Amino acid sequence: MKIGKVLLKNNLIIAPMAGITDRAFREIAMGYGAGLSCSEMISAKALYYGDKKTLELAQISNDDRPISIQIFGSEPDIMAFAADKLSYGDIIDINMGCPAPKIYKNNEGGALLKNPQLIYDIVKAVKGASKVPVTVKMRMGVDHNNITIRECAIAAQEAGADALTLHGRTVDMMYSGSADREIIREVKGLLKIPVIGNGDVKSREDYLSMLNDTGCDGVMVGRALLGSPWVIEEILTGTKMTSNTKKLEVTKKHIELICKYRGEYIGIKEARKHALWYVKGLKFAAQAKRELTTANSLEEMNNLLVNLFLSQS
Ligand SMILES: Cc1cc2nc3c(=O)[nH]c(=O)nc-3n(C[C@H](O)[C@H](O)[C@H](O)COP(=O)(O)O)c2cc1C
Repeated sequence: MKIGKVLLKNNLIIAPMAGITDRAFREIAMGYGAGLSCSEMISAKALYYGDKKTLELAQISNDDRPISIQIFGSEPDIMAFAADKLSYGDIIDINMGCPAPKIYKNNEGGALLKNPQLIYDIVKAVKGASKVPVTVKMRMGVDHNNITIRECAIAAQEAGADALTLHGRTVDMMYSGSADREIIREVKGLLKIPVIGNGDVKSREDYLSMLNDTGCDGVMVGRALLGSPWVIEEILTGTKMTSNTKKLEVTKKHIELICKYRGEYIGIKEARKHALWYVKGLKFAAQAKRELTTANSLEEMNNLLVNLFLSQS
């Protein structure tokens, strides 16, 4: 699959997930062969004002590439500033779907779906400033009475977007219900640029049916990777990861990387949620949960994980 001038080795794409797809997660997940990774969403405004934490959030490495860096905001010139600054990534993606109230009430993220003209202006400005291809990720509309994805997608394409990711939910659905594939199919039919289908893909069967049902060019996968980044390889190859020893290795490596990039004191706290996802479904996980949520060092966390994974028969 090709996005602008960027050639991807396959069409399976890691979804941006705030608080999750940090550098450690992306490096682990890209080890399973995805075509493209994506950063957490980056505030264009915070970047404009030189916020240090935001700059850290936008750090990439050679192991998580090719990468799309996602920005959010509502002011075309500030979005253009961010796109120029972040053009060290391979692609700039624009968030037009986030349902989080603090984003939405600022007319950012999913709220942009109310305003196709502003979408046009933002994409045009970002495209003008970016040195790399520009993509847009959007939902169907703000709610079922306002399904604006057709006009929003066309506005983005006319302004120069190189590809579009379509998540088949409205903003007010948040993550409930199921993603609508019919609208993805319809919008794909309206556009010339590549379309990436997104929503509820958890397995190779879901991936193949997303491609088949919608005619989309690529597939984006998000929540299925929480505590199981190997799902990327399962989707691509049809194999199943069954070894607890290998799962333990990946879990430990992921948590070590979080601590490496964030420092152990902050890193171990950030790692707890990932540890809980990795052990989900294991025997005795309920007992281990309390201990994992209070683990304060890498050594303590590693010991808990080793005991738990190796106690499975
Ligand atoms: C915890 C979490 C954080 C997310 N953060 C972002 C984000 O920063 N930017 C974005 O465009 N979408 C974000 N999403 C939405 C996902 O990228 C994706 O569109 C959605 O989860 C549907 O795909 P899935 O069913 O494969 O998870 C987030 C989703 C979750 C669960």
